[in-house]
Amino acid sequence: MGLRDPRRLSRRQFGLLGTQVAGATVAILLGIPIVGFILSPLFRRQPVAEATVGDISNVPDRQPTKFVVQFPAGDWTSAKVNAAVYVVRTGSDLKIFSNTCTHMQCPVHWDASLNEFLCPCHGGLYDMDGRNVGGPPPKPLPQYVHRLDGTTLYVENRFTESL
Ligand code: FES
Repeated sequence: MGLRDPRRLSRRQFGLLGTQVAGATVAILLGIPIVGFILSPLFRRQPVAEATVGDISNVPDRQPTKFVVQFPAGDWTSAKVNAAVYVVRTGSDLKIFSNTCTHMQCPVHWDASLNEFLCPCHGGLYDMDGRNVGGPPPKPLPQYVHRLDGTTLYVENRFTESL
């Protein structure tokens, strides 16, 4: 009767190891679909949705005018999403800005006395064309993709440039 090799597995240890390997395999196979389900919204492109801004025939020239729009619920949220937009008409040119500051996403507002958009959080300033002209904002205000049907304006839930 010789000494047993300590590196060899006993029958019991071998059976236990087999059970653990089988359990891990089942867990991985069950886990892949769940992880995929959880992470898939991150990789799925958000479907384009359109919201009605309304009749803009009374928006004065060179006076940014605020509207609140409601985007429909989508794959990414079960609730409707409200967003404030600024309509800026300059002659025949039309720009629709988000009111979300590009610094830390505070809501900006048009300050007629400054003739600029002002972010109250850190004093960020944007001119009427949405250019960041003062304070910490690193980029211009985002502009919505829009469509005009007569005098009724619509915006999509996407911007003309990626942020
Ligand atoms: S969040 Fe607007 S300036 Fe900081």
